Amino acid sequence: MTLFATKSIAVLRAEAEVESERSLKRTLGPLHLTALGVGAIIGAGIFVLTGVAAALYAGPAVPLSMVLAGIACGFAGLCYAEMASAVPVAGSAYTYSYATLGELVAWIIGWDLILEYAMGAATVGVGWSATFVSFVNLFGIEIPPRLTSPPFVFCTATQVQQAVAGCGVAGWHATGAIVNLPAVCIILAITTILVIGIRESAGFNSFIVIVKIGVLIVFVVAGLWYVQRANWRPFIPPNTGTFGEFGWSGVLRGAGLIFFAYIGFDAVSTAAQEAKHPQRDMPVGILGSLAICTLLYCLVSLVLTGLVSYKELNVPSPVIMVVSRVVQLAWFRPVITLGAVLGLGSTILVMLLGQSRVFYSMSRDGLLGAWAGKVHPRFRTPYLSSIYTGIAVAVFTGLFPIQILGQLVNIGTLLAFVLVCGGVWVLRRKRPELERPFRTPLVPLVPILGIVSCLGLMLTLPFDTWIRLLVWLLIGFTIYFGYGRKHSKVV
Ligand code: ALA
Repeated sequence: MTLFATKSIAVLRAEAEVESERSLKRTLGPLHLTALGVGAIIGAGIFVLTGVAAALYAGPAVPLSMVLAGIACGFAGLCYAEMASAVPVAGSAYTYSYATLGELVAWIIGWDLILEYAMGAATVGVGWSATFVSFVNLFGIEIPPRLTSPPFVFCTATQVQQAVAGCGVAGWHATGAIVNLPAVCIILAITTILVIGIRESAGFNSFIVIVKIGVLIVFVVAGLWYVQRANWRPFIPPNTGTFGEFGWSGVLRGAGLIFFAYIGFDAVSTAAQEAKHPQRDMPVGILGSLAICTLLYCLVSLVLTGLVSYKELNVPSPVIMVVSRVVQLAWFRPVITLGAVLGLGSTILVMLLGQSRVFYSMSRDGLLGAWAGKVHPRFRTPYLSSIYTGIAVAVFTGLFPIQILGQLVNIGTLLAFVLVCGGVWVLRRKRPELERPFRTPLVPLVPILGIVSCLGLMLTLPFDTWIRLLVWLLIGFTIYFGYGRKHSKVV
C-alpha cells in the first residue's frame, strides 16, 4: 500500500511555504533561474564532447545530432515546466513523482537523479581539470600529469580496436597517476560556496553565465570568417558499418552522446523552493535556458566542424584546440580558455546544488536520514547534504576517468525524463482540476513524444550502460526496502 502512497500536492505546497528553521530563503527571480539553467547546461558537453561526437559518430552533421537531442529535451522540458509550476517545491523530478506516481517510483527517481547530478558534477570536474591544465599552460606552468589524471582508466573493446593510446587490452589499467587534484579542488571549492549561501551562489553563477555565453558567441562570429566549406563536405560521411559511426546511425549515436550537453535545464526545477514566484518563473527558466543553448550549440558545432576537419576533433578540448590551430584566431585562445574554466565551474555549481536539494527533499520525507534535511542556522542552506555530497563527488572525480563517470549520467537522466513525462500525463488524468500556471500543450501527445524520444536516445547507448543502470537501481531498491520504506513519513 505505502509503495504507491502519493504525497498530496496541497501538503507539498504548504511545506514549501512554512517559515521554519528548516525552510529555504526565496531569493531567485526569472533571470536568476534562466541563468541557473544556462549555467548548468553549457559545460563539458559543448566544450569537450562535441569534438568526440563529430570525430567518431556524426562528422560535420553534429548540429543535426544537437537538434535531435534538443527536440527530445524540448518535449521533456515542456513537461518539466508544467510539473515545476504545479508542484513548485525543491526536489525536482523526485518531488513530482512523489505527488503523482507514488513513493516507490519517487524513490527510484530520487536514486536515479544521483546519477545525473552527483555523477554529472564529477564528470564535468574531470573536464574542468583538463581545461584548467591548458589554462595554466598559457603561463608556462606545468602541473605534473601524475596529479592531473585518474589513477585508473577503463579501456573498452571498441577503444582497443580503434587503437586508442594506452588501450592495448580491454579492461582496467593503472595509469601511474596519483589523483586528479585540480578536479578534487574545484569540487571542494564550489561545495564551500554552496554551504555559504544560495544568493551568493546565484550571483556568482549569473556573472559566469554571461562570460561563457560571451566567449561562445565570439567564437561563432570570429570563427565564421575562417570556415572552409570543404570541411562540411560530405555533411554526413558514409556509414563505415564497424561501430555505427557516420551515416544516419552515426547522427543518432551522436545525439545519444551529445545529450549530455543539454543536461541541466531541469536543475532549475530543483530550486523551485528558493524562487520568488515559482509558478510564473519556473517555466521561463526551464524553457528559456533550453532555447538559448540549442541555438548556441548548433552555431558553435557548425563553426567548429567548418574550421578543421571533423577527423581531427577527438581531443580533450576541441574548441580550444581549433582556436589555437587557426592562426587568425590565436588571440582568442586565452579568453576562451578562461571562459571554459569559469563555464565548467558554474555547471558543477548547479549540479551540486541540485544534488543537495534532492537529498534535502528525500530526507524531509523520511526516505533518507535526518542529516540530509538539516538547514544551517545562519546560512539557511542544507549544509550537511552539500558537504557530504561534495566529499563523495570529490572522491569520484579524483579517482575515475571521464568516460566511466559520464557513461551512467546520460542513461540515468533520460530515465528521469521518461518518468517526468509519464507523471504529467498521469497527473492530468488523476487531478484535472489542479491549478497549473503553465500547461504543457497537446497532452498526451507531447508527453508521449517526450517518452518515445528519450527512450530512443537511451537505445543508442551501449548495452553495458544499461547493465550498470540496472545494478545501480538494484542497490537503490535494497536501501529503500532496508531503510526508506520503514522511515517514510508519508502514509
Ligand atoms: N550539460 C552539462 C555539460 O555539458 C552537463 O557539462
